[in-house]
Amino acid sequence: MHYRKKFGRIALLSVGVSMIALAAHAFEATTPPEPPAFPAEAKVTYVARDSILEFKALPGYSEPDWVSEKFEKAGKLPPLKDRLPEEPLVYKAANMPDGIGVYGDTLRHVIGGRPEGWNYMAGQSQGWGGIDIGLSECLTRTAPLFQVNAEDTEPLPNLAKSWEWSKDGHKLTMHLVKGAKWSDGHPFTADDVMFYWEDAVLDPNVSPLGGGASPEAFGGGTTLVKIDDYTVEWTFKEAFPRQYLYTMAYPSFCPGPAHVLKPKHPKYSDNSYDQFKNAFPPEYMNMPVMGAWVPVEYRPDDIIVMRRNPYYWKVDEKGQQLPYLDEVHYKLSTWADRDVQAVAGSGDISNLEQPENFVAALKRAAEPDAPARLAFGPRLIGYNLLMNFSANGWGNPDEREQAVRELNRNPEFRKAVTSALDRKAIGDSLVKGPFTAIYPGGLSSGTSFYDRNSTVYYPYDLEAAKAALEKIGLVDTDSDGIVNFPAGTAGGANVEIVVLVNNGYTTDKSLAEGLVGQMAKLGIRVVINALDSNQRDAAHYSGRFDWAVRRNTTELSSVVQNTEQLAPVGPRTSWNHRAPEGKDVDIMPFEAEMAELVNRFITSQDNAERAELMKKYQKVYTENLYTIGLTEYPGALIINKRFSNVPAGTPIYMFNWAEDSIMRERMWVAADRQGKYELYPEQLPGKPGDGGPMN
Ligand code: GLA
Repeated sequence: MHYRKKFGRIALLSVGVSMIALAAHAFEATTPPEPPAFPAEAKVTYVARDSILEFKALPGYSEPDWVSEKFEKAGKLPPLKDRLPEEPLVYKAANMPDGIGVYGDTLRHVIGGRPEGWNYMAGQSQGWGGIDIGLSECLTRTAPLFQVNAEDTEPLPNLAKSWEWSKDGHKLTMHLVKGAKWSDGHPFTADDVMFYWEDAVLDPNVSPLGGGASPEAFGGGTTLVKIDDYTVEWTFKEAFPRQYLYTMAYPSFCPGPAHVLKPKHPKYSDNSYDQFKNAFPPEYMNMPVMGAWVPVEYRPDDIIVMRRNPYYWKVDEKGQQLPYLDEVHYKLSTWADRDVQAVAGSGDISNLEQPENFVAALKRAAEPDAPARLAFGPRLIGYNLLMNFSANGWGNPDEREQAVRELNRNPEFRKAVTSALDRKAIGDSLVKGPFTAIYPGGLSSGTSFYDRNSTVYYPYDLEAAKAALEKIGLVDTDSDGIVNFPAGTAGGANVEIVVLVNNGYTTDKSLAEGLVGQMAKLGIRVVINALDSNQRDAAHYSGRFDWAVRRNTTELSSVVQNTEQLAPVGPRTSWNHRAPEGKDVDIMPFEAEMAELVNRFITSQDNAERAELMKKYQKVYTENLYTIGLTEYPGALIINKRFSNVPAGTPIYMFNWAEDSIMRERMWVAADRQGKYELYPEQLPGKPGDGGPMN
């Protein structure tokens, strides 16, 4: 009896031990825990797509009195009617949260980026924070769709005011807004559209800002031709690929002014591509734009000032030419300062996106005399760890880097890394409370396409992670706490991995530092390469990284925008796996599966099928760890209370950033609440290249 009991206990014990041993070699795969409920999410009032805007001629038009008095009557500007299109874009009053507005005041942004120049088409950054979004008008527009029910919708018209499909669905005819002009008065026509298509999208040496405007983003074999000055015609290999209407929105089809860009483009000049790219430095003022405000002053590390575009082609139902606001500022500071200034009232707007600032901002916004409103949206801000999957030369890796690429491609290695991440601790290190959620990677839990049951999550399990490294031959041969490559690979050196990080954001740096600490426990040394945003982008696009900590872009938060970036469907659509010049992507089988699902999604017409395809996509993505999720959380829009026409519940990021979603051109400030912030009152933009505004 006594013996049997003892024996039984030993037997039980050994079963226990072998279960632990087993667990050490296999990763548990489950679904991620339910994210903490976040009650503060602001509600959106949903509207019909057609209720936002229309194109039509109105009986009469008006503009601020000082423009007609000082400019038009003095012969410095043609009559307003001749500056507007035959049928301007008209914002409907019923869709305006506070109705038709009045002129005046300034919108004061604060940003952390710095402008490289004005050549958006050649990929120069203007410093982000809403600058390029405001300057660029695109064929279609998607940002305001956050307020339209997702089913059966398509992008809003913009520079393309209407379109029809041929019967067989292979041809799409687009009508451009007729008689619209650039901010210097030059007509906007199909030539601008064709120049953008032929000499930016199709020219492999030119990549427009945002990185999505590669030919395959519009479908392999797609062509575009000019029919007449205001008509262009697309031909697609697939029938009815409506998805590409989203690619024609920001950031991928926002044409630049051909009349100033073309003479500098290498195809039409002696310039090199570099000279073309840099032909419009930040000091070059009054760059012609289709947007509502034109840059008239730039002071390095201080401010960019913009004044109203007297040729803007959008009006309200009363015929008042937009924008309502006469001036826009971009103070050149830091992203964290944007939050601080917006809650303090010395700035007007911020996307509260760095959790480190949440608590202080919430506190200040809750005070009765708070100058700004703060409203959280869905959990759409996410971060991933990207592993460079190219083993055939993207970014010209040296021996160590090549060895890291091989590791990155090894599924056991990726499972080890993901299982060594304590995501609860990562989230809490940014902010405590119900904000952050366990994010295994893949589609954001805030999108309508998200399905938790199709999401594979490998929970935190450091022991299993260590055992997996050993299994793939990564052992600490020199007992310094860091595992070594097998002898024969990279000289058997320590496994040291460089992670590319944007140093403009506290959050990016906190996440990278957390990663360094957690990987050290696994026996991997991670070294941070923190660069400013422009340099970071350059390093990323050219493939010069082992790993990268990266804030998600819109393909993961909207799915329908920049969809091709969800997988390596072309040589340069993926963020972690691109082709080196002259070669193909060395795609892995699971990535090929993802690409095939994405291609089917793009051409599918059936909403139920599209939802199913995204479930499969999510499964393949998260099971195979296409990227390693770090954390996700909601962001909040902070906006000064004096502004009217800010739609309730505007998410800071969905199809695009809030700066686009709120439609700044129709925001206004009641006369008795207007501030005295204008630096160039009663002045308009001058000639392109001139030093500043015209008096
Ligand atoms: C930066 C900011 C975002 C947003 C975008 C707009 O990325 O971090 O909040 O303002 O610019 O492009």
